[in-house]
Amino acid sequence: MSVTISIGLERLRHRHTTKRKREHHVVERMYEKSMAEFGVEVRELLGVVLPPKKLLEISDKLREEYYERLEHSEISMLPSYLHTLPTGMEKGDFLALDVGGSTFRLAIIRLTGKSNGEEPLQVRRVRSFVIDKSIRDLKGQAFFDWMAAGIGELLVEYGHLTGTADARLQMGLAWSFPIEQTSPRTGRLLAMGKGFCATHGVEGQDLSELIMRACRARNLNVEMMAIVNDGSATLLSKAYRDTTTRMSLILGTGTNAAVYLPTTALGKEKFGSRPPQWHDAADRVLVNTEVSMFGRRVLPRTRWDNELNDHHVLPGFQPLEYMITGRYLGEIVRLILVEAVNAAGLFEGELPEGLHEPYALDTRILAAFELDKTRTLSKANATFLAAHPLPMPPRLSELEFIREIAMLVSRRAATYLAIALHALWRLRTEAEGLEAGQSSHVTVACDGTIIEKYPAFRSNCQAKLDELCVLSGAVEGAVSLDMAPDSSIFGAAVAVACIQDP
Ligand code: BGC
Repeated sequence: MSVTISIGLERLRHRHTTKRKREHHVVERMYEKSMAEFGVEVRELLGVVLPPKKLLEISDKLREEYYERLEHSEISMLPSYLHTLPTGMEKGDFLALDVGGSTFRLAIIRLTGKSNGEEPLQVRRVRSFVIDKSIRDLKGQAFFDWMAAGIGELLVEYGHLTGTADARLQMGLAWSFPIEQTSPRTGRLLAMGKGFCATHGVEGQDLSELIMRACRARNLNVEMMAIVNDGSATLLSKAYRDTTTRMSLILGTGTNAAVYLPTTALGKEKFGSRPPQWHDAADRVLVNTEVSMFGRRVLPRTRWDNELNDHHVLPGFQPLEYMITGRYLGEIVRLILVEAVNAAGLFEGELPEGLHEPYALDTRILAAFELDKTRTLSKANATFLAAHPLPMPPRLSELEFIREIAMLVSRRAATYLAIALHALWRLRTEAEGLEAGQSSHVTVACDGTIIEKYPAFRSNCQAKLDELCVLSGAVEGAVSLDMAPDSSIFGAAVAVACIQDP
């Protein structure tokens, strides 16, 4: 059951006539409502300041969803094979791969161990490849061939020659999609969001083999040693530096969280067929929550969220993601602006160039509006018009309207994310057999462009998280969002160093 908010729309359904002077003639257009009325409506739908009791109630319901899926779900709450976290002493040079939503990064990473005072995680060489639509559209093996070509380029630069008798370079992969781990080294490819087509014809196949097949075809002297989800990679790399890390968050194109849980928190069937030695050794396990897939039953949605979802290639797949990540914040605002233009005469009823295209409004433009502290919003205006020209310059009130919408959408996202993290922290505390007030400080390692760069996102999220923690009996700051930049690529290397064969 969706909790769609629809209030008082009928009240606003009378028609308005707006007269606008354009150069020498008067254009008269009929609009369903005035901009003032539309503004009130948007504020009511998006800006609802949920009372603390309601926030806690949503968090409780979300925690119930987490518990259900810890028992039964093939696509979320996925246990890795890692049952211990790094000590920070691991050493070695590794090839780390990071397949994100919009970038494929590769790096030679050196782990020095903490002992000698050197920077513990060093980048020896790095390459990045943009993942645009043409890459996201690659189907099946073609996508993995593209990855192998990138690996080949880095190896040439690094002087690690193909097909030689040199020792094989050990690779780790941070994969920003769900994966069903079948061993520490690999797993089965599961459905991919973010508009990727790579699973086409190969869903369920072994991910390491898909990549290694492409590497062998190019005679690349590498070996896949570890595959982890990027959320888990983030936790691993932060834990390498700070051994108190127990949770992580990714918030960029997509979102996810990883958490280190007692194995008893998961249903037996979730572990698949692991050897008895694994179970004997494992008290706890690193879990990829795929938190993006939660919240369908509990997070309040607006008609714009429903519209986005209905036109999505995977409707209902990632309800939380569709309301909070870099891929969608711009799209929600675009849908609101398009309605404002058509129903309330924003920009004189003229749609800015390109704004009819789904996903055309880049989240970076929203950030520019939130960042602009000038009285005239001149910087934001220039950024907006460069991407979406209009025949007549927007009025200041119209620019202020865009800024307000951006703020409402990003504040809501920060609140929903705080609720999701609070629910996860409560779950972990319970699974460890502790009361909320007894739990020691938990660091959430954060990575991703939105949490790192979107104006005030992290501080807004932290403020809501503090509010929720205090309400559930813990101290303010019991859970802290700490940035761990570039941690998913570092984590891919740490994963190789921590590999434990079952
Ligand atoms: C994917 C996760 C990933 C997250 C962050 C989500 O869309 O389902 O596997 O960890 O994005 O990259």
